[in-house]
Amino acid sequence: MIGFEPTEEQVALQDMAHKFAANEIRPKASEYDRTGAFPAEIFKKAFDLGLMTGFVPEAYGGLGLCSLDACIIEEELGWGCSGIATSMTANGLALTPILLAGTEEQKREFVEPFTKVLQYASFCLTEPGAGSDAGGIATTAKKDGDVYVLNGRKCFITNGTYASQYTVFASTDRSKGHKGLSAFVVPRSLPGVSPGKKEDKMGQRASDTSDVLLEEVRIPAANLLGKEGDGFKIAMKTLDYARPTVAAMSVGVARAAFELAMQYSKERVQFGVPIAMNQAIHFMLADMAMDIEAARLLTYKGAWLLDQGKRNTKESSFAKAFAADLAMRVTTDAVQIYGGYGYMRDYPVEKLMRDAKLLQIYEGTSQIQRLVIAKEIMMR
Ligand code: CAA
Repeated sequence: MIGFEPTEEQVALQDMAHKFAANEIRPKASEYDRTGAFPAEIFKKAFDLGLMTGFVPEAYGGLGLCSLDACIIEEELGWGCSGIATSMTANGLALTPILLAGTEEQKREFVEPFTKVLQYASFCLTEPGAGSDAGGIATTAKKDGDVYVLNGRKCFITNGTYASQYTVFASTDRSKGHKGLSAFVVPRSLPGVSPGKKEDKMGQRASDTSDVLLEEVRIPAANLLGKEGDGFKIAMKTLDYARPTVAAMSVGVARAAFELAMQYSKERVQFGVPIAMNQAIHFMLADMAMDIEAARLLTYKGAWLLDQGKRNTKESSFAKAFAADLAMRVTTDAVQIYGGYGYMRDYPVEKLMRDAKLLQIYEGTSQIQRLVIAKEIMMR
């Protein structure tokens, strides 16, 4: 009934993603972290290997990978650099609403081009006044004949500066709360669409994060996904898909910190012996290894349920919360094992600790995951 052996294809995918992370991402990660520049050259190579279109069904030019496959890849990318991995994965988040709720025509028009030429799409849910409370969106979409007129400001948008297409959640009827939200595909080329302020982040600095401004943007009614009022559920279902991927990335970050800490503890000599000889260090490393394994299993379960066509809301939040919190713990302990050196930018673990913090915040904070879990276990 249960197997823990990856298939030959999964081993090959993992190997490819690991080599890409080791050879293309890691050598550049600290430079991109320092400068905050957009790693376009890395994305070009990833695109050529199919690493940015794996989630797209074969019918639209992608590799048609399942969620479990995507998580296996994502762990390796997160191990390489979670900032770069976040930006690389943003197309998946932005195009999933179209794959879930779009018509055949919309999938051809708004998804397929992303498999032909490297370009970026952004998922625009969050606003200054609507972060955890996604139902509180103030961006409006007013019907005017056969167009909708969009006005509002989205914030903390991954790849917002570089995207050619935005998936925007806006209210078509504010009196209905979350039931009045609708989802639209908004091409960047339309008048009134512009990226706003680029954020200067503490961690994951290689991923672009910016505002997206919508001023009297007239979009064809044909760009509405599903029906008016479907937006909130489309967003929630998309997050059910995305959260196992963030969990997998978190496992990758934790694994990177664990490996570095273990290595360092064998090299660092104090009181005449490597610090790895101390039971205090054994226990920290053992906890890290145990939690990483547990987080990976939760992640695989969240992804596997999706691949079986089953609702995974609870398990997706289990995985996201557990893995993000674990990444924060493990990276903090890795800095502790490195001691004073760990706090210095010359060593790699402080970056991992800064990067990990964002995993507990985006795609639903650790607190929101617990709220989702509580609703799932108590009310549904
Ligand atoms: N699938 C399908 N339907 C769902 C669902 C799911 N997973 N979750 C909720 N729904 C439905 C409910 O059944 C309910 O339906 P009805 O109206 O028919 O009864 C409706 O949606 C409302 O659900 P709730 O009552 O649970 O909604 P809520 O407002 O109380 O709470 C929330 C929802 C869980 C707090 C939600 O707002 C949420 O997830 N917030 C976090 C938002 C988030 O993750 N933002 C991250 C942005 S993306 C990002 O960070 C990426 C980046 O680029 C950095």
